[in-house]
Amino acid sequence: MRLYVLFTVCVMAALSSWGIPVFGADEAVLKPRVPIDKIDEARIWTNPFEATPENIEKGKAIFHGKAFCVTCHGKDGKGFGDIPGLVGKLPRNFTDKVWQTARTDGELLWILKNGSPGTDMASFIPLVLTEEEAWQVLLYVRSFGRQ
Ligand code: HEC
Repeated sequence: MRLYVLFTVCVMAALSSWGIPVFGADEAVLKPRVPIDKIDEARIWTNPFEATPENIEKGKAIFHGKAFCVTCHGKDGKGFGDIPGLVGKLPRNFTDKVWQTARTDGELLWILKNGSPGTDMASFIPLVLTEEEAWQVLLYVRSFGRQ
């Protein structure tokens, strides 16, 4: 019996050291995306909009409409798994509460301004979205975590 427990622990330790998730949230996904020298500044930006149904609705229209977020992140915000040819860890499961709490609003806005370095998550401000619209779309991204 003891040996069995020891074996299980070793297997789990090996899996997580190879980046394979053992307990729920994937460590590779939770790792901050904002570069370390920018993160303190980004973390303190706060969303000027309140999460009212009207503002979330505006964000939803952007997510499904002109910013085409839905094409990669899916209607349910769960992404589509690892898409061949798409660089970046997907699904970014927006319904995952562990991921939601790991990020501040400011970090997410930083990503919409700069993209996620080295992945296919591009920057959307200012070419596609104004900063105000980006905050609204983030209210919608946050709403997946409350489902
Ligand atoms: C071309 C496909 C594509 C489109 C379109 C796209 N994304 Fe992404 N997004 C990605 C990928 C790939 C990642 C994962 C990047 C990574 O692993 O760092 C990502 C990651 C994210 C993250 C998570 C960043 C983090 O810190 O974990 C957020 C938030 C996000 N996208 C929001 C959006 C929003 C909002 C839109 C629309 C304005 C959008 N994305 C459009 C591909 C896309």
